[in-house]
Amino acid sequence: KKKRRMRIMGKAKAHAIMISVPHQGHINPFICLALKLASKGITVTFVHLESVHHKLLSKLGPQADPFSQARQSGLDIRYTTISDGLPLEFDRDLHLEEHWGAIMHDFPALVDDFVGEMMRSEPDFDYFLMTDTNYTWPPAVARKYNLVNVSFWTQTTMTFAILYHWHLLKQNGHFPCKGVDEMEEAIDYIPGVEPINAKDLMSYLKESGLVSIVTEAMSAALDAVKSADLILHNTMLELEPETLSALNQHQPNYAVGPLNFSKSLHSYTVSNSLRSEADCTDWLHSKPPNSVLYISFGSFVHTTKKVIEELAHGLLLSGVDFVWVIRPGMLSSDDTDVLPEGFGYMIEGKGLIVPWCNQMSVLSNPAVGGFLSHCGWNSTLESMWCGVPMICYPIAYDQTANRKLVIEKWKFGVNLCDGESLDRVEIAEKIKGFMNGAYSESLRQEASKLKVAMEKALEIDGSSDRTFDQFMEDLKAKME
Ligand code: UDX
Repeated sequence: KKKRRMRIMGKAKAHAIMISVPHQGHINPFICLALKLASKGITVTFVHLESVHHKLLSKLGPQADPFSQARQSGLDIRYTTISDGLPLEFDRDLHLEEHWGAIMHDFPALVDDFVGEMMRSEPDFDYFLMTDTNYTWPPAVARKYNLVNVSFWTQTTMTFAILYHWHLLKQNGHFPCKGVDEMEEAIDYIPGVEPINAKDLMSYLKESGLVSIVTEAMSAALDAVKSADLILHNTMLELEPETLSALNQHQPNYAVGPLNFSKSLHSYTVSNSLRSEADCTDWLHSKPPNSVLYISFGSFVHTTKKVIEELAHGLLLSGVDFVWVIRPGMLSSDDTDVLPEGFGYMIEGKGLIVPWCNQMSVLSNPAVGGFLSHCGWNSTLESMWCGVPMICYPIAYDQTANRKLVIEKWKFGVNLCDGESLDRVEIAEKIKGFMNGAYSESLRQEASKLKVAMEKALEIDGSSDRTFDQFMEDLKAKME
């Protein structure tokens, strides 16, 4: 009744409660979405998990608040934290299964209390939920508190569509996966998705034997999204038109991205990176245009010492200059000696190894001519935006599926190799061809075309801009 009274008086202000999945690749687009919503006059409460906030503390100091500058610039973005149910000292990066177990089983009740408390303490708002599609609890919380439920999918629409039609994979015998023999089979029955081989599916769909908690969580989350009121995607229409149009037969989907590059948000400085960034600018300035290969496997996946060793030797043999992000803890073992002995001396001035950097600043440096990437969705978008071709080495999750799009659909990348059976000589040859050949020029041209298309989509009246306005209208209508 109160809500209705406030609306009649025209005073209830829309207020988004935003909760991202606690990984860098999800946090980055979520922060951009928060800024975008706030710039349209919506009040936002951005909720980081305490474990994420804890990482920010060591970077930003005791007053860590990623939005303080945006708030000073006039945006109504509040910032708070919530526990995921595990103690702070628990190593979530190393124990992913246990972490997702807590997110599945303990977190929902904590969010429920949190939302209830927030609505009680400040009742004069018209709240709605804006949460990551990977969560399972939003429908229950939305139902209980009578909230509009907006789901945000931060990866490719193709991967969303495949998961959305998980039942078809089951019906056709492609899930659970039976074994290597069926990996070459084409999956040609997902509406709006071009045929894709089973081997290119997301890693958690290819498990045989016991299904992991991540697969269980994804399956439950993709069931849950079917009751979302509105679904946002961090992509643009031009990249995946058929897939978006097929999905729109079921629910309203909005391609509003890539939000990361929205010009209207450039005046706000937000601290999104969870690690301190090494500055590569001076080193890059000493290198000729398009001569440096940038290498990073994102914020999250682990790899083996053997892979790093072959890559390291492959790079040396190629003779190509490189910047390589070697994250602390990026090995699947707890071995701390990641690189081959003496590698630091061997590379002399030819390579720069950093624990973390400002990836956008590196990719947009004219010296960088290629990106050896695990094909995380943010990295892929950033590479497109900077007009830098990719050489793909997917490791897990959605990355093999993304590689297919990069190479076959958008044609601005090539493949490095598959799995862990890498060979240093082959790597060296591939890298040399990728960086120096005439082929690299044609890849660069494709990447540049994508950059132009992205700029257009994000401009006023571009496809993503219009879609965002449509989303705002539909949201308003749902809230009435
Ligand atoms: C995860 C999944 O692994 C990925 O497959 C999925 O598409 C998104 O969620 P992540 O592995 O971290 O993400 O990869 P990605 O999506 O590429 O995101 C990494 C982000 O970290 C990028 O925005 C990149 O700019 C940033 N980054 C990476 C840095 O800022 N500095 C670095 O040194 C490395």
